[in-house]
Amino acid sequence: MSQQSSRRQWLQQSSLALVGLGFSFKSMANEEGFRRITGIENGVINLGSNENPYGISAKAKQAILDMMGETNRYHFNVPSLQSFKKTIGDYYKVGENQVLVTAGSGEGLALLARHFNKGNIVAADITFGVLPNTAKKIGSKVIEVPLTKDKVHDLPAMLKAINNETQLVYICNPANPSATIVANSALKNFCEEASKRTVVLIDEAYNEFLENGTDQSMINIIDKNPNVLVIKTFSKIHAMAGLRIGFIIGHSSLISKLQPDYFQSSQMCISNLAMAAAMASLADDEHQNMSRQKNDAARKYTVDELKKRGIDVSPSYTNFIFFPLKKYKGNFAEDMFNKHKIILRSNQYADGLWARVSIGTMDEMKKFIEAAARSNSFASS
Ligand SMILES: Cc1ncc(COP(=O)(O)O)c(C=O)c1O
Repeated sequence: MSQQSSRRQWLQQSSLALVGLGFSFKSMANEEGFRRITGIENGVINLGSNENPYGISAKAKQAILDMMGETNRYHFNVPSLQSFKKTIGDYYKVGENQVLVTAGSGEGLALLARHFNKGNIVAADITFGVLPNTAKKIGSKVIEVPLTKDKVHDLPAMLKAINNETQLVYICNPANPSATIVANSALKNFCEEASKRTVVLIDEAYNEFLENGTDQSMINIIDKNPNVLVIKTFSKIHAMAGLRIGFIIGHSSLISKLQPDYFQSSQMCISNLAMAAAMASLADDEHQNMSRQKNDAARKYTVDELKKRGIDVSPSYTNFIFFPLKKYKGNFAEDMFNKHKIILRSNQYADGLWARVSIGTMDEMKKFIEAAARSNSFASS
């Protein structure tokens, strides 16, 4: 059997196993336990994980190839990688002692939940699940503050929720899964106010999808607000979800406190290939701009088509969209997978069923809209 056909067979069997096991799509904001079965071969379109469908930059690909000969070496023995943190620091205009590198920002979020384990953590409900779920698992209290009715972080309520035991406030901006954003000046004021009492962590996984992401980043206020941390990833605009690389930026006084507990050798967790690719990608504005522009166009198309069908899509500032399916009966994500081989997320919240759909290529989004329309998915919404 050829390698390709055995892979095809495996994918088919896996897809069947997935359906047969009654696979749940519930973990929309929490990636844990989500088995992803994808592949052009069996026609699956994966709009479930907010990945960048255009792949890594050609320059990053070349950097990986060039680094292949050095994979026998620890990174500290590879001259071009010795200054990796400095490269990140220079790009974001901070010192290298302000940077902690982690194997994806998910690892950073879990590590932060474990570090700030002596009191409570304030987070939005709903939000990206890794940090609050890790905190709950290790027995920390998580004070969950509902989003506003527009699915935006309720900053005044979050400020009020902070008490003497609060160790960390987590804000995902732009937010996952709601795709919304808080006004820059409001977030800045919040960070300044809240960080007088606790550490504030801003998750900027999707910041680069904004037209003016650099201006909106809270990295800009870290010098004057030493209790503010920003966490970022190479998984989204840089298309490196499989390479596992992310980082935390903060004031050196706070980073140096985190370092001995969990991060001392964190750069040891990152492969030479990932670091080489990340450095090349940071220097490739063209690839980032291409990803942003294509995402904007495919997102606009999808939002317009959904609106034509009466769907009330939340404004999206990310590479995914979030919308209610008010009268949809059943499990939307499971139906879309079973009938159309499209992976997306849907979840039942207090105010009803919502779907989160990643923005794929224009072609994939056309197929998504066609599938949804053909199955009359939205007629009853
Ligand atoms: C808001 C947010 N933060 C962090 C992550 C984790 O990304 P990674 O661990 O791939 O860096 C994700 C992934 O989807 C995310 O949506």
